[in-house]
Parts: sequence; C-alpha cells; structure tokens
Amino acid sequence: MKPALQMDNVTRRFGERVALNGLSLTLQAGEVYALLAPNGAGKTTTLNLILGFLQPDGGSIHVCGEPVAGDAARTRRSIAYLPEQVAIYPELSGLENLRYFSLLASKELDDATLRQLLSESGLRADAHDRHARNYSKGMRQKVGIAIAMAREAKLLLLDEPTSGLDPLAASELSGLLRAAAQRGVAILMATHDLYRIKEVATRVGVLHAGRIEREIDPQTTGHAALEQVYITQLAR
Ligand SMILES: Nc1ncnc2c1ncn2[C@@H]1O[C@H](COP(=O)(O)OP(=O)(O)OP(=O)(O)O)[C@@H](O)[C@H]1O
Ligand SMILES: [Mg+2]
Repeated sequence: MKPALQMDNVTRRFGERVALNGLSLTLQAGEVYALLAPNGAGKTTTLNLILGFLQPDGGSIHVCGEPVAGDAARTRRSIAYLPEQVAIYPELSGLENLRYFSLLASKELDDATLRQLLSESGLRADAHDRHARNYSKGMRQKVGIAIAMAREAKLLLLDEPTSGLDPLAASELSGLLRAAAQRGVAILMATHDLYRIKEVATRVGVLHAGRIEREIDPQTTGHAALEQVYITQLAR
C-alpha cells in the first residue's frame, strides 16, 4: 500500500530564513506520528506544505501516492486538518458549524450522527445548540476535532491539538486518535504535550534545524527521558 504521507528532502525558506532543510518523513496507515519541536522550529510550516497552502523550495510531498504539487485541492480531499486556531462561525451553533463544514466536505450527516461526533469530541450535549460566539477556546477546539473526524480522511493533521484542552478533554482526544488509527487513519500531530505523546504516539520525531534529527520510540522512552530530549534540544 502507498504511504499516507511521504515527504522527501523538503526545503522551505522564508527570505533568508531556512525553515525546513531537507525534511523527510514517511507515514503509513495506522501510525500516529508526533512531531516534537520548540516554537518556531517549522511544525506549522510542515503541515501547511502537506496541505499545499505553501509550496516547497525543494523536495517532494506525496499524499496517498499523489504529488501535492500536481493538484493540492485533490490531495487535500484525503486530509483532515485541525489548525492551531480553530476558526468556526460565531453566529452558528456547534451543531450548525459541524453540519456546514461537513457539507463543504461533501458529507451530508444526519443530526444524530453530528451530535454523536460532537459528544465524542468532548462537547457536552447542552452546548451543541448554543452560539459558538460564547464558546471557550477548548469548546471551539472540540468542534474543530469533530469537523476533522467527520471528514473520515486517510491522513489527519493536527497542530498542537491539546493546547487549550483540559486534561479530561485531552485524554478523550487521545482515545479518539487511537480509535482513528485503528481504523487505518495515519495521524501527524505537532505537539509539545509530552504526556499525550506517551499516550497516543507510535513514533516521535524531533524536528531540529529544519529536519527530523532523531526518532524516539515512545513506548520505551519514559516521560522524564522525553522531556530531557526536549530540553537538550532547546538548549542548543
Ligand atoms: N509566512 C511566513 N513568513 C515568514 N517567515 C515565516 C512564515 N511562516 C513561518 N515563518 C518562519 O518559519 C519558522 C518556522 O515557523 P513555524 O510557524 O512553522 O514554527 P512552529 O514550529 O509551528 O512554531 P510554534 O510552536 O510557535 O507554533 C519561524 O522562524 C517563522 O518565523
Ligand atoms: Mg505552529
């Protein structure tokens, strides 16, 4: 089977600044890959390149065997994306937002399914019909998670998904991600959340100097050791 994601030697500059410098990464169905890196290391840039919102200066990216450079609108159909800042319509309820974004992705889901998705994503039933204007950051995040899950994509990209979530919501998200991976979804998440990495990731890549400098096995590496890798890396 073709990998869900294949990045080969990807380079991207912003003016003089080299954000990515030969990043390579292959992700198979069912893998949960955590991209661990400090602020400004290029995590969001990596996700934007995969989505085709940015173009690489060098190297290539394939999603499910198709080149992103060929037709990004097409490769994006295989991708669900939870951005760092979830943008939903304040005048619509959580349910209406989910219905609207699902329709955009050509998924017409009945209300029971939409409500189930929202609840599974951690949004309590009494909030489903309230205006999103009054939602907290975590509640908006949960709607974003539901929107991403509703797409039933082969590749799921998450940018710091647990930032703003309380521990219960974060642990619920880990459960959702594990279930998605079991269904064969490949997951790439940029994160600083060492605790959730241990909970959900099957591979961890440390992004440094624009490429994946090393990989860590989260199963055999403890929290303290993971944190140590992070701190040593930051100190360089
Ligand atoms: N549109 C842009 N124009 C200029 N420079 C940019 C742009 N986007 C990113 N950069 C630069 O590229 C580098 C990587 O940024 P990126 O946003 O990918 O980091 P990040 O790992 O997501 O950081 P954070 O953890 O803070 O979200 C940074 O040095 C940033 O200044
Ligand atoms: Mg970022």
